[in-house]
Amino acid sequence: MNTETNTVTVNTNHTVTVGTQQFYDDVIAGLTTMPKRLDSKYFYDAIGDVLFQGIMNSPEYYLTNCELEIFSNQVDVITRLILADNDEGFDLIELGAGDATKSTYLLGYLMKQDVDFTYLPIDISANVIRLLDNELSKKLPGLKFEGLNGDYFDMLTKAATLSDKRKVVLFMGSNIGNMPVDKAEQFCKELRRHLSPGDIVIIGFDLKKNPQTILDAYNDKAGVTKQFNLNLLTRINRELNADFMVDQFEHYPTYDPETGSCKSFLISCCEQKVHFRSSGKTIHFHKDEYIHMEISQKFTLQQIKDMAVNTGFSPIKYLFDDKEWFTDAVWVAK
Ligand code: AVI
Repeated sequence: MNTETNTVTVNTNHTVTVGTQQFYDDVIAGLTTMPKRLDSKYFYDAIGDVLFQGIMNSPEYYLTNCELEIFSNQVDVITRLILADNDEGFDLIELGAGDATKSTYLLGYLMKQDVDFTYLPIDISANVIRLLDNELSKKLPGLKFEGLNGDYFDMLTKAATLSDKRKVVLFMGSNIGNMPVDKAEQFCKELRRHLSPGDIVIIGFDLKKNPQTILDAYNDKAGVTKQFNLNLLTRINRELNADFMVDQFEHYPTYDPETGSCKSFLISCCEQKVHFRSSGKTIHFHKDEYIHMEISQKFTLQQIKDMAVNTGFSPIKYLFDDKEWFTDAVWVAK
């Protein structure tokens, strides 16, 4: 690896950037396991970000509005829970902040109440942090802001070195649902290890509901979710010099009401070979073979309560939207 130029060699003839090498390794690992899979974290390139905004604005994708309703209508309750009897300052850390639309309600309200806190958004994208800094300095002048660009847990470790104030961690948007239940539990345990007793987490979970409502949310009529999935193949073609026949894949979302797992697949409409020209690797697809693209897990309230107990937290409160389709769980670290 040539650290000076920030490049690594895929084979003797071609060089790609370090980030691309990781992307390539993960893609090849996923496409050479059976059944084939791709990691949904790679959905979010610049085009994927725009498509995800489109999903959030689609009439079928209820999750964003439900959580927005919770944060806009119950911001006073959230504030009381966070402050409890504690009038010392705290660090408000947001994992995967995105554009922080929902948390902005909370930030604005805390500032109006003259609460002493610093907002520390963590995001893997440096661009997201830059945009947020820019936006929030206009929207909420005077906000104490410390953007952290990197992996969630590395940045939580860093946040602990920046101040010894109490931590309140937001992990919203049902991002926890993009992990299978066992991984979500491991994630919460790891989160707990980075916190101290009395620290608070607020986690957004999507709840089980009418199965058709869930399936429709991942199969919008305008086809944005389909494009969102196919965009990852286009991204692989562009960034990894591959030749997926993108129009020869169909989007196939499923929801199993028993397990609560909503999954998205892409199905190859024909037999095809995909070449990765830089490395010479070829991946073979049978007709009707699928790639598992994403899991969006839905939970029962009991499952969420059990998860709190199993991972070192005590539930303080569950906040719901009017339809009770979504919950923001407020837990305290034991
Ligand atoms: C980011 N995440 C919580 C979304 C979800 O609902 O699983 C991603 C998404 N995929 C398709 N539609 C939305």
